[in-house]
Amino acid sequence: MKNLFPSYIRVPVVFFIIFGMVEYFVDSGDKPAFLEYPIIMLFLLLILFVLIAIEGIVGAIESVLFQSLDEAGKARYIANASKVPQFKKLKALYAKLKGDETPIEEEHEIILDHNYDGIKELDNNLPPWWLYSWYASMVFAAIYLFNFHVTGSSDTQYEELDNEYAQAKIEIEAYKKTAKNLVDVNSVVLLTDAADLSNGKKIFGANCVACHMADGGGGIGPNLTDKYWILGGDIKSVFRTISEGGRSGKGMISWKKEGLKPVEMAQVASYVLSLQGTTPASPKDPEGDIWQPEDTEDTTTPTETIETTEDLEIEESVSMNN
Ligand code: HEC
Repeated sequence: MKNLFPSYIRVPVVFFIIFGMVEYFVDSGDKPAFLEYPIIMLFLLLILFVLIAIEGIVGAIESVLFQSLDEAGKARYIANASKVPQFKKLKALYAKLKGDETPIEEEHEIILDHNYDGIKELDNNLPPWWLYSWYASMVFAAIYLFNFHVTGSSDTQYEELDNEYAQAKIEIEAYKKTAKNLVDVNSVVLLTDAADLSNGKKIFGANCVACHMADGGGGIGPNLTDKYWILGGDIKSVFRTISEGGRSGKGMISWKKEGLKPVEMAQVASYVLSLQGTTPASPKDPEGDIWQPEDTEDTTTPTETIETTEDLEIEESVSMNN
């Protein structure tokens, strides 16, 4: 071993193995560990120094010992040191797999009597490596055929793909559950969890009561407890009103811009809808139209209903949609 790798290979190899291990085990984010923590650079330098020192010391001891040997011993040492491992077995295996080639002088013995426009064919023995690979591929093919197409005990590529899709679907669902903040106007659904609604109530209390009253009865803003809606009364419309704001100049601002998170807007929107049918202390008169839930085209209707009213409001609704 020692003779196989001289010290100028040994030292860097050992050093980079240690270096690699340090990088692997020290969690240093995006930066390499030795840049992130200067102490590690120092440590690595020390390692390098120690490795070189070890080589030097071992070399010195060897030469001292060598000097102390008698002549016969020195000769034996030199003979041993120059003996490089021969890899005999590997070489033998290689020769065996390569097979014997017919020497060029004897080729006339194995030539076949085909003649393709002057191109002739030799009947060489097949090289064993080729032959064995061929046998192995036959065995493989038989096992493969049996496994995938006779018993079907392993999945084919299509089945694997289907399985992975199914698995990915499950993981996406699970992720969506934990990542409620991914919700937007297209994916929002009415939340009914007590925790979500109570959080929605808190958000409503902190941001909305000044204009809509604590019980949703309305003041500057419209009554949120009745069936009449200006901007749409399903969860998606309410979410969008909260997120993007109402018609410009009316006072209902975009709460997305105010820093409400998507999940918070979904919660407060669900809370607002939970006020439906309650009786506030002093309800404001209805504004807008009775909301019809079966109206499936609802997501675009708010602007359309507005457009049928005053001219001024058409302009506003257009700017709201920009
Ligand atoms: C500064 C006063 C003000 C505040 C604060 C306010 N709103 Fe409004 N809100 C309004 C006004 C005014 C409208 C009517 C907008 C319009 O006509 O376009 C409105 C409309 C709405 C609507 C649509 C009603 C409909 O009939 O379509 C919803 C839902 C709503 N607000 C929810 C909220 C929520 C939730 C909050 C708190 C996060 C909030 N508002 C905070 C003034 C306010």
